[in-house]
Amino acid sequence: MLSQADNELICRVGPGTPMGELMRRHWIPAVASRDLKAAGEPVRLLLLGEKLIAWRDSQGRVGIMDHECPHRCASLFYGRNEQGGLRCIYHGWKFDVNGECLDMPNVPPQYQFKDKVRATAYKVVERNGVVWTYMGPGQAPALPALLVNFFPEDEVDIGGFLRNCNWLQALEGDIDTSHAGFLHGGMFGPAHGNGLNRQPNEAEDDPVRYDPLRYGYTDQPYMFEGSATDWGAMYGAYRPIDDRTNYWRLAQFIFPFWTITPTSPIEDRTSLRAWVPLDDTHVRVFAISRKRAGRPPARGAASDKFLPNTTDWYGRDRLIQSAENDYLIDRGRQRIDSYSGIDGITQQDHAVTESMGAIANRTKEHLTISDRMIMVTRRHLIDAAIKLRDAGEMPATVSRPGIYSEVTGGYFLAPKDQDLASAYGEQQARFLEKTKGWRMAAE
Ligand code: FES
Ligand SMILES: [Fe+2]
Repeated sequence: MLSQADNELICRVGPGTPMGELMRRHWIPAVASRDLKAAGEPVRLLLLGEKLIAWRDSQGRVGIMDHECPHRCASLFYGRNEQGGLRCIYHGWKFDVNGECLDMPNVPPQYQFKDKVRATAYKVVERNGVVWTYMGPGQAPALPALLVNFFPEDEVDIGGFLRNCNWLQALEGDIDTSHAGFLHGGMFGPAHGNGLNRQPNEAEDDPVRYDPLRYGYTDQPYMFEGSATDWGAMYGAYRPIDDRTNYWRLAQFIFPFWTITPTSPIEDRTSLRAWVPLDDTHVRVFAISRKRAGRPPARGAASDKFLPNTTDWYGRDRLIQSAENDYLIDRGRQRIDSYSGIDGITQQDHAVTESMGAIANRTKEHLTISDRMIMVTRRHLIDAAIKLRDAGEMPATVSRPGIYSEVTGGYFLAPKDQDLASAYGEQQARFLEKTKGWRMAAE
């Protein structure tokens, strides 16, 4: 549990809040490149509680700026995207992607002050299908070195969705390993999942012959370990699979809102997720990964159905299954082959995290050993926000953005007597060796 004061501190991200300021010192995935057409319509963009617009000018450059025109605050969302700039429809002032005022057509020449007025515009970098923005003060750090940022653009997949709750409770689902066998029970075949009367199966129980990912969805971990690092936090959960071997799942939280989940072999990790707060009660998830050729989508992904986009602040990337339709829960299937009765892994996560309310009341929780990673992450986030507020101290993710390509999570088998630190060291070394070529190609 958290005190009400700590819950407020960790959840609120508007301007001037400690957590909001910590996020503003990092580059933020803001919008998918595909959502912005050259000389096309501006889109409304909420980020960290700020109402912005994102647009692409006639030369293909992207601008992210305050949606209110600096003249008399009409929304630039309605603006005319003209040659090299966006023109406010109220009195015709025109701004470029950097916020510079290019034209003031309603002002006589002797009263012009174009050079003195600017729209509030944030720094923007576009890379592999994602428009990133830096909303903080001073010099921006280098862009986070996600492994996928080193690949050709056509090899990168950008997914994600909107979720109607605070960013942290949504993110916490990714670092809560013990829910997988319950909430997602049934997603890997009807016989899998706690409480679903799974029978032993010789072929499936052999980790060499069967995808070990399924352990994550079938059996409860035996033990959990979690620790804070200078870039975030890491947990390992393991269960013995025979006398000599442990099956491990390793996952990470990386400042300020990134997660790596153990859904692939640890040495193959190329994906991350960013839980980007639109405001205090809505989060847009960016799932950034390398396309896996020939691999069918994970079961459940096929049901990731979206509503048509609208121009509303919350109008993009909305799943059809929502609180309004109880996520289309099927009580019949809940009794037979699906632990939740809700179709789709993402939608299952959606249902439980949104059901906590817009901002979960963490003063009412009763955490246990399986929530260790959540406790470690929260404490570390609160400490980092306070260190920035009180001492101007930054986490390592600001000074060493290369970290994002060096951390890896996933599953693996290890000898029984090996502890987390040594197992991770070995696996990470193998991962760094395997991915060295990608890093070098990028330099
Ligand atoms: S309010 Fe935008 S030009 Fe007047
Ligand atoms: Fe989940």
